[in-house]
Amino acid sequence: MKIIRKSLLAFSLTGVVLTSSAFGYSQEERIKDMRAMEDGVQQMQKGFLYNNLQDIQKGAELLKKHTAKIEPPVEGADEFKRSYAYDLTKREAKKIIKLADDSVSKYKDHRPRQAMNNFTKILKQCMTCHARIRKW
Ligand code: HEC
Repeated sequence: MKIIRKSLLAFSLTGVVLTSSAFGYSQEERIKDMRAMEDGVQQMQKGFLYNNLQDIQKGAELLKKHTAKIEPPVEGADEFKRSYAYDLTKREAKKIIKLADDSVSKYKDHRPRQAMNNFTKILKQCMTCHARIRKW
């Protein structure tokens, strides 16, 4: 019985650590990720302007890597706003990553118009999130 209690305690402590690390994403990290995402988007744009697949691919990889890490600002938010912000972030991040992949594969497939269409949709996702949860 004692052993069971101890392992339960250890389990719940791990839970606390995991939860707090989920909220441990700082504003500084977010800004760093955002700037890297901006670099990724710019490199993709350059690739489209100069007709250079490598730039499009590299930009997409950079964008995806940092998009996968972003978390919303939730300091002081109540439970409802918090879960809204996390849901929105997850959804937007997923869309951005998929659009970046699609953009690269369409470009490789010699369908530049669709590739550029996906690219402009990426920018739309950035703006959607900024308009909804960023403090201006
Ligand atoms: C989850 C929502 C969300 C998404 C999606 C998002 N952003 Fe942001 N972005 C923010 C928030 C929140 C801030 C404000 C940062 C802060 O002060 O914590 C921000 C700030 C920025 C900044 C300013 C950073 C600075 O130096 O102050 C840039 C640049 C930026 N985002 C680029 C992008 C780009 C490019 C995309 C799309 C590829 C994007 N963001 C998608 C939420 C988002």
